Amino acid sequence: MRSMNLTLFKTLASLLLAVGLCHKSQAVEITITCGPSGSDVEFCLKYANAWATQTGHTIKNFSPPSSSTEKLALYRQLFAAKSGDVDVLQIDTAWPGVLKDHLLDLKPLSNGLENQHFPAIVANNTVDGHLLAMPWYTDAGLLYYRKDLLAKYGLKVPSTWEELTSAAKKVQAGERSKGDNDFHGFVFQGKAYEGLTCNALEWVSGSGGGTIVDAQGQITINNAQAAQALNQAASWIGTITPTGVLNYEEEEARGVFQNANALFMRNWPYAWALLQKDDSLVKGKVGIAKLPGNPSAATLGGWHLGVSKYSKNASIAADLVLYMTSAQVQKARAIGGSFNPTLPALYKDKDITNANDFMSSLSDVFANSVARPTTATGLKYPQVSQSFYNAAHEVMSKRTTGEEAVKKLESRLKQIRRKHW
Ligand code: GLC
Repeated sequence: MRSMNLTLFKTLASLLLAVGLCHKSQAVEITITCGPSGSDVEFCLKYANAWATQTGHTIKNFSPPSSSTEKLALYRQLFAAKSGDVDVLQIDTAWPGVLKDHLLDLKPLSNGLENQHFPAIVANNTVDGHLLAMPWYTDAGLLYYRKDLLAKYGLKVPSTWEELTSAAKKVQAGERSKGDNDFHGFVFQGKAYEGLTCNALEWVSGSGGGTIVDAQGQITINNAQAAQALNQAASWIGTITPTGVLNYEEEEARGVFQNANALFMRNWPYAWALLQKDDSLVKGKVGIAKLPGNPSAATLGGWHLGVSKYSKNASIAADLVLYMTSAQVQKARAIGGSFNPTLPALYKDKDITNANDFMSSLSDVFANSVARPTTATGLKYPQVSQSFYNAAHEVMSKRTTGEEAVKKLESRLKQIRRKHW
């Protein structure tokens, strides 16, 4: 009996040793693209490293550029070279169709976990039946405003762009008359990049001017409401908006607003948590509302996690993706970083909604946000977006009028489409 126990003990010990060695020898380094904007890098790396501690693998960050447009260009270079340098990539809501040939189908590895997420996001991330990215967080454009200043000037939260313009003029003039010459009425994302496509789509769509290209693939941008919406944005530059906005991404706008130098800001949900930090000059003074418009339109955004087809450790990378997109991690990111979860169940979680009142009070904004015309234009979407943001940028730089710009844009889009998208 005793010798049998000893044999059993020895067998078990060598088995455990073998498993341990095996685990160790299989530990790999997984490279993920985290950051660089806002709190993205902090939260992304925090949980990627938590996964590494649990699994014995290690994490390397491949820090991409901040602009979505530049991220896409970089990914395309990596993919063209079939580079295995990056395993896990942050994928913009606008991209699954564009990157479909280079992302791994996660369906065989996901154990059906995608079914817990919003079906519309899963559908967006599924191309030709392949699940190309797991939903990570969702975005919609929001209006941030200074509660204290609206109260001081007896103004209400604007529901039209005209109301926003006149409130911004009044408060800017009032604050400047007291010597605050750096104070501005309204800041947003006006640089020629994907962020301007999102902002300008809100102006156009929120004026009844459509979505550039409609769901059937018809080019609809050449209309009077769209032209007027772009003209209105041009009228802000140098009046209620600093001319520097023509070079602003999300973080530049947040910097101005967080330093108490603007009445209104258009931005995504992530800004909320940062505005409430102790080092924020506007902590406790900020409200969030739906964007002005008739009807109000918020562009749908968001980021998801995909695995490169060229990854040498694809199934381990997929395991990291499933961890990062899990309810546990999404909850922590929602509370600490105000990243909107992609799991409907989390919107009933009081810890999350207490930290971010807007996630429940503006639930219709998230439910009805306007998609960029990615599905209709497929692989040609980046060119469509580039033509649109360049047109908007030209109008805002006063190099052309809204009317001329939408006319020229229509013919440019016809060239891009040729026979079909
Ligand atoms: C946000 C959105 C993303 C969008 C980008 C534009 O990150 O989530 O969808 O493309 O802003 O700047």
